[in-house]
Amino acid sequence: MCGIVGYIGTRPAVSILLQGLKRLEYRGYDSSGVAFVTEGGKVEICKSEGKLENIQKLLNPPGQAQLKATCGIGHTRWATHGKPTTQNAHPHRAGHVVLIHNGIIENYQELKKEIIERGHKPLSETDSELFGFLVLDEMESGLGLADSVRKTFTRLQGGNSVVVMSEKESGVVVGVRNGSPLVVANDPEGGAILASDAQPILEFTRKVIFLEHGDLVVATKDGIEVFDLVSGKKVDRKSTELDWSVDKLDKGGYPHYMLKEIYEQPTALVDTMNGILDKMSTVPFTLAQQPGIQILEQASEIHLVACGTSYYGAMEGKYWLETWARMPVHVELASEFRYRKPVFRPGSVVIGISQSGETADTLAVLREVRSHKIPTLGITNVRGSSIVREADAVFFTSAGPEIGVAATKSFTTQLMMFLMLSGHLAKKRNPGMVDELFSDLVHLPHLVALLLEDESGFRKAISSAAKALANSTGFFFIGRGYSFPIALEGALKLKEIAYVHAEGYAAGELKHGPIAMIDPSITVVVLAPKDQWRDKTVSNLEEVKARGAKILGIGTAGDHLLERLCDYWIPISQSTHESLMPFFLTPAVQLLSYDIAVLHGTDVDKPRNLAKSVTVE
Ligand code: M6R
Repeated sequence: MCGIVGYIGTRPAVSILLQGLKRLEYRGYDSSGVAFVTEGGKVEICKSEGKLENIQKLLNPPGQAQLKATCGIGHTRWATHGKPTTQNAHPHRAGHVVLIHNGIIENYQELKKEIIERGHKPLSETDSELFGFLVLDEMESGLGLADSVRKTFTRLQGGNSVVVMSEKESGVVVGVRNGSPLVVANDPEGGAILASDAQPILEFTRKVIFLEHGDLVVATKDGIEVFDLVSGKKVDRKSTELDWSVDKLDKGGYPHYMLKEIYEQPTALVDTMNGILDKMSTVPFTLAQQPGIQILEQASEIHLVACGTSYYGAMEGKYWLETWARMPVHVELASEFRYRKPVFRPGSVVIGISQSGETADTLAVLREVRSHKIPTLGITNVRGSSIVREADAVFFTSAGPEIGVAATKSFTTQLMMFLMLSGHLAKKRNPGMVDELFSDLVHLPHLVALLLEDESGFRKAISSAAKALANSTGFFFIGRGYSFPIALEGALKLKEIAYVHAEGYAAGELKHGPIAMIDPSITVVVLAPKDQWRDKTVSNLEEVKARGAKILGIGTAGDHLLERLCDYWIPISQSTHESLMPFFLTPAVQLLSYDIAVLHGTDVDKPRNLAKSVTVE
């Protein structure tokens, strides 16, 4: 959702802001803008609806004031209050105060009334602009910028982050994190940079500070100072050295980030495994000691709570936790769970799964559950994200930055995390049972790499099927057992990036209603590797074939019977433990959706209407 960048230092601010906003584009936005301080201390604003290119064009050719500016703020807006127009785009000006904002000011109606009564005339429909007038009035009454922001911010209800400048204090940028994340760093060449996540900062340094809820940062040419929002006292925030490298932020020769990220999955799987295993132990599934392990070991039942792709990751996790660890598991959509009255038993543990660590519904569940003293855990890919604050302990996947809005490697690394946790619990309860699984697991990333490199078999089969089926009026993805969550994920991928109607179903469910939809214009993608469910799935396949659907099969190479039933066939020649088949099926459905999206000419990395992290309910 909204992206924030701020810079003050010695370098050209506008190009830093534009480059930073480019890095944040993946979050999803519908308008953008920058504001920079001229040599005379005045602030110039340039903003536009639509893509970032629109303001890049407006700023080209750059004038002297722009070229010389070394301080400014920039924003990409994902509309909540007010349409995605230029007027509603950030930065907003209130007199000499200029600001950008991420979040929702829940009491904005009451604030708007008050501001209008005081004689101000807000120009936009946004809640954000109102904050500027509150700061302006405090500054007019004699307070400095930082104190005005501090005093005013406490009046806002809801989760909000802001970055503010004033023409009266042109050498200062003030930021507050109170909900949506804000990351800051000292520029090694002097000055500071602020952003919604670490990606715009990595160009300058890997040493970042993830501000905490209720932190106010004052950035000047001398660097940053952090204060407590309520007391105003200086606080010491440790910096974190990120292991993400800046080259991970480029497409690396691929036409889209999504494709690059699909191909990064083998490395991401190795990194995630290495990130959690105890490197000193040779015993399978021995995990490095960390606070989350103890909570997990004491659980007698687990609630997995998530949204979207992470929810499907949790569904897969349930199969493994039940099968391997014999752990009772409930999988819940965060947006439903938060408004239910769930029953917890002694030993219940709630795990929130969120690749971004910022999904509002998932965070709200953890917050609520934790307030009832139920132990909570998080699984996320983003260090310093809000889930770290909301859960008692967090397990980190190591997918690296994922820029495509469609989750790919963040999903498979969640699967890896669930396998590691399941194996760990299973080892404790059933020593010996998991050795076979572990020995296949260590070879898994290599096998996934071989599958992805199989250009003439696997990859060619997918692109031929995509070409032949791209114009189907609808798709059903079906599977049983371990393949069922991947069928759901396949349907979601196709919907979100190709805008094609698709549904995921448990293969056994088709005849309970959806089979009425089946005709020759429909494609059924059947996920049926050779496992304990394969024969049952094949029977379900016969039922749809008899009704004229086109069939695309994804199964084990050499399964000639199944292949003959299918109009199109994607073979998986890697053989492994049946629990691990989802790691091969997933790239197949990802690439199928990708190829169909490319054929349809959609914006694969930034699909319409979507945001990478959904920070509103
Ligand atoms: O960051 P999260 O994992 O909490 O995000 C949840 C969903 O919004 C997300 O998984 C979404 O469904 C994917 N981007 C789809 O590819």
